[in-house]
Amino acid sequence: MTGVTLPTDLAPVSATTRVVVCAPEEIGDVAAGVVATVAPDGVLGVATGSSPLALYAALIRRRTEGLATEGLRLFALDEYVGLPDDDPRSYAAYVRSVIAEPLGIPAAHVRVPSGSTAADAAAYERAIAEAGGVDLQIVGIGRNGHIGFNEPGSDADTRTRVVTLDESTRRANAEHFDGDLARVPTHAMTQGVATILAARRIVLVASGAAKAAALRSALLGPVTADNPASFLQRHPDVTVVADPDALREDR
Ligand code: F6R
Repeated sequence: MTGVTLPTDLAPVSATTRVVVCAPEEIGDVAAGVVATVAPDGVLGVATGSSPLALYAALIRRRTEGLATEGLRLFALDEYVGLPDDDPRSYAAYVRSVIAEPLGIPAAHVRVPSGSTAADAAAYERAIAEAGGVDLQIVGIGRNGHIGFNEPGSDADTRTRVVTLDESTRRANAEHFDGDLARVPTHAMTQGVATILAARRIVLVASGAAKAAALRSALLGPVTADNPASFLQRHPDVTVVADPDALREDR
């Protein structure tokens, strides 16, 4: 790790949250070191989006070096409503091509939320329970503090359900839809805050100044549905792996 020091006001954030500050190019490897502890056959909760891409690349590298990943079982955090799972912009396609296939995980061991009904959501919760719960959940953080697609206003007791995406979230993801906001789905099925907090361990990865306000208030601010990531303060085992920009105080 480089000589980056933890900003003094972040050390320690809480007895149950470790913050590892590292250079942006080290985030993937450092986070993969934590995630690798659930191999060879743990239940891994996976986020999509850009934040964990380097983490997945580092896990794939570790597989070439001998880490057994084929027995992992995967549960995704969320999925757009209305995109078929063979649509390349779907999170099902992301999980398949970026995580499962390169890690040698068979399709039968990969679950992504699908459908749009309360029964579909309940079936997803049941599938997680039947797998014995999530051993380690990877999360990113939205600029508005969302985890999964639990937008501000999502409370601690929420479970898997269909949500309306905030316009800011759809704007942030429009680049995957030819930059056209109108094409970004308006709804998603997401694990709830309570679903995420039920994981035994959580690893949050974040980089870049755009995440700083949300991440700092999640770590240091009040626990509130206004910033759903702040509920992570209530979890007994959270590791945050972030670069200095993602933790920097506004000046
Ligand atoms: C993705 C997810 C979202 C993202 C968040 C950050 O499965 O649940 O919460 O983690 O929107 O996205 P990126 O990493 O693309 O900035």
